Amino acid sequence: MTTGNEPGNEQRRSLMIGGLAAAAGIAALGTGAAAAQAPSRPAPERLPLAGRVAFVTGAARGIGRASALALSRAGARVALVDIGDADAMLSEIGYPLASREELEASAAAVVAAGGEAIPLLADVRDIAQLRAAVDETLRRFGGIDIVAAIAGVGVQDDDFAHYDPERTRHVIDVNGVGVLNTVHAAWEPLKRSAGGGRVVVLSSQAARIGEALPAYGTSKFAATGVVKNLAVALGPDNIRVNALAPSMVETGLPYFQNRLPRNEASRRSLTERLGRNFVLPLQMLDVDLVAEGIVMLAGPMTEATTGITFDINGGLTAQTPS
Ligand SMILES: NC(=O)c1ccc[n+]([C@@H]2O[C@H](COP(=O)([O-])OP(=O)(O)OC[C@H]3O[C@@H](n4cnc5c(N)ncnc54)[C@H](O)[C@@H]3O)[C@@H](O)[C@H]2O)c1
Repeated sequence: MTTGNEPGNEQRRSLMIGGLAAAAGIAALGTGAAAAQAPSRPAPERLPLAGRVAFVTGAARGIGRASALALSRAGARVALVDIGDADAMLSEIGYPLASREELEASAAAVVAAGGEAIPLLADVRDIAQLRAAVDETLRRFGGIDIVAAIAGVGVQDDDFAHYDPERTRHVIDVNGVGVLNTVHAAWEPLKRSAGGGRVVVLSSQAARIGEALPAYGTSKFAATGVVKNLAVALGPDNIRVNALAPSMVETGLPYFQNRLPRNEASRRSLTERLGRNFVLPLQMLDVDLVAEGIVMLAGPMTEATTGITFDINGGLTAQTPS
């Protein structure tokens, strides 16, 4: 647990949006109505992640945003980290990343729900930016107990006919090296975590079965490889390292990857392709289900668990040998 000068309940609800300034040299947002409107929640000390600090990458939207909210509901204070630049990889992957405004909105949503959040800009490809975000988190929250490495990219036209080494390198850089960078930047505070450090990596079913996605699939196998190797490397530091591997999740990503508008017809077409492989009568997964998986891998239930990849996949891997 990270303790020290931990704030009281009233302070806990205060809007803590200023981290962007420190990490990226931009103006801090003011405090606002969100703090006044914060609803009451169970006594913080009774929550499973009470006193813990989570560092969440990819937190501006999708699974990252839902996970930051879920970690906060479970009692953690959260540093929300994202590239916050929609155009940053447009030419390489073919779709926009999240904007700075989306990152700020994620942090405001955590605060509006009664939690504590700081939004921080960092590109996970750049370890110096991650170290600055870690430093700011330590300055504001006093430690880091949980790293949720969720930032990731897909790519359009990801088939072998369109293979492009440079584009593939970018995807592996974010989804593989980006995870290593994130954990390395937070390693020292994770070592100091009194309750034992936690790393949760957002992998994918594309790392469990082949899906003919040479760039994305390879990069997600790399993410799962990171988990196996860091579980062994960081075990002596009392740090657990696990991965979550969901099948298709209802975020913008599957639509972007498949060049589809995000509407009901596209959803049906994506689900039809997917449904053929499910054992359970599930369709696209809800982000909140995946976020609860992150909380589980960050919480007391998995204290003795490291090096695993936990599937949320409607039984897809029930049909494979291991
Ligand atoms: N949506 C799915 O179907 C699905 C399924 C399995 C796994 N995943 C994985 O879940 C994670 C989140 O995906 P999502 O569906 O929420 O996608 P998303 O595109 O909605 O969110 C990804 C977030 O990561 C951020 N990001 C991307 N590159 C970054 C970088 N270099 N540095 C910092 N931030 C960066 C983006 O700005 C964005 O906010 C990804 O790792 C993805 O591969 C998604």
